[in-house]
Amino acid sequence: MLGPNASHPSSAPTPTSGPTTSSPLLNTLFSNPVFAGGFGLASLGAAVSLGRRGFMATTSLLRRQLLVHVEISKSDPSYHWVLQWLAQPRDPGGFVASRLTRMRNLAVKTTTSSVGGYNGVGGRQDISKTTHADFRVQPGYGRYLVRHKPGVYIGVNREKASTAVTATGEPHETLTLTLLWMHRHLLSDVFTEAHSLAQSFNQGRTVVYTARNMSWQVLGKPRMKRPLGSVILDEGIKESIVADVKEFIGAQQWYTERGVPYRRGYLLYGPPGTGKTSFIQALAGELDYGVAMVNLSERGVTDDLLAHLLTQLPERSILLLEDVDAAMINRRQRDSDGYSGSTVTASGLLNALDGLAAGEDRIAFLTTNHIDQLDPALIRPGRVDMMMRIGEATRYQAAQMWDRYYGEMDTDHAGRDRFLKRLHELGLFGGDSQDPSVPKRHTSTAAIQGLFQFNKGDMEGAINMAEGLIPRTFEPEPPAPDGAIKSPA
Ligand SMILES: Nc1ncnc2c1ncn2[C@@H]1O[C@H](COP(=O)(O)OP(=O)(O)OP(=O)(O)O)[C@@H](O)[C@H]1O
Ligand SMILES: [Mg+2]
Repeated sequence: MLGPNASHPSSAPTPTSGPTTSSPLLNTLFSNPVFAGGFGLASLGAAVSLGRRGFMATTSLLRRQLLVHVEISKSDPSYHWVLQWLAQPRDPGGFVASRLTRMRNLAVKTTTSSVGGYNGVGGRQDISKTTHADFRVQPGYGRYLVRHKPGVYIGVNREKASTAVTATGEPHETLTLTLLWMHRHLLSDVFTEAHSLAQSFNQGRTVVYTARNMSWQVLGKPRMKRPLGSVILDEGIKESIVADVKEFIGAQQWYTERGVPYRRGYLLYGPPGTGKTSFIQALAGELDYGVAMVNLSERGVTDDLLAHLLTQLPERSILLLEDVDAAMINRRQRDSDGYSGSTVTASGLLNALDGLAAGEDRIAFLTTNHIDQLDPALIRPGRVDMMMRIGEATRYQAAQMWDRYYGEMDTDHAGRDRFLKRLHELGLFGGDSQDPSVPKRHTSTAAIQGLFQFNKGDMEGAINMAEGLIPRTFEPEPPAPDGAIKSPA
């Protein structure tokens, strides 16, 4: 049927064929070459865009179906392990594979350490130090393809987010690994390999973590393990602590079965320079643990930070809280630079140790030089299960230390006996209760170490200089005369 306009032959040519339902207006439009061309283009555009969307939807579906992504946040310990693992040299494969897997953006991680030395001759200490730098190349930011095994490729995307971790102001970083779905079982191998690689870097070394930017970070280069035998405590002390820690480590099942938090705390107290910190470091080495260290007298350590840190201790590490007495004194007075002292409070410390939010699975060592200033609540079981006084040097320790330094040359122990006799005469073992003329004094193992190091290989020198072990007392400064200009210090 023709439309109404068909009755006006002059207005438009009469179509000879076409849909019988189409209106004459449409016919007119379609017969207009400009409109028809435009419409054609528009439909082509729509078809292309539809096709593109369809293609993208299909590829994204395929990607989702065929690929598996693993996102690792920078705050996760495995982040650095995997980065190190990715930087390992690997077989590049054939021509195409080697071109595809080229890593063009690399980043360098540098750690430096000072290496002091002895000049050897005469055994005197040499003050010269060299700085040792260790450079490790890692993948930089961007996307890479890594050939894991023949036929197995891993897509890597290391990116820095635009949002910052609010507490530190540092941008958040992620590392995304992409594998074919059928290769997903290899992911566990990747993480296991990365972990053992990280451990092999630290073989024979003790990793020390410290609190920085609200999280635990490795402090410098992992240091050589300190042998337990190099720390000389009074008879039996070392052995009893080591036995207790080892028993605790072996008793995890016992704690789990009884629903008791798997935690143990030790408090080492005593005067400075008696080997508390050295012993904990050596113990960590013996157990193949790291040391996660917080100094409570350090600036910026707050209750919140402490609680937060204790909930996420690095794996296999001993928590070391140094100077716990600092938390007991809440200094109100500000220093000249506005510093108002430690901001960890006694209750903050107690809660961090065994409050509701306290982490499970922990060995904690607390140290102090001022046991008398500690809150008795700190010393109750659950927080501190074992307390040990690490005291001034005893005759036993002095003899043991002598043997470590001069044992090889003093085979008949004659030198050691003279040294011990000299220390006794000087009253350095607490004096002689029978003879009131012998002064009652003490010295520290650190001082004895200093004497022996100064007289390396020189027994006579050590004996002659033993007087230097007498603790020095410093005279108070005479009051400034009237009218003198007083310095601000
Ligand atoms: N008992 C010891 N055996 C071996 N070395 C020791 C001993 N005591 C101290 N030293 C040496 O003295 C130095 C200081 O020791 P350390 O830092 O362990 O003392 P500390 O008890 O932790 O002191 P502080 O209470 O001041 O922190 C170290 O170089 C350490 O090797
Ligand atoms: Mg110490």
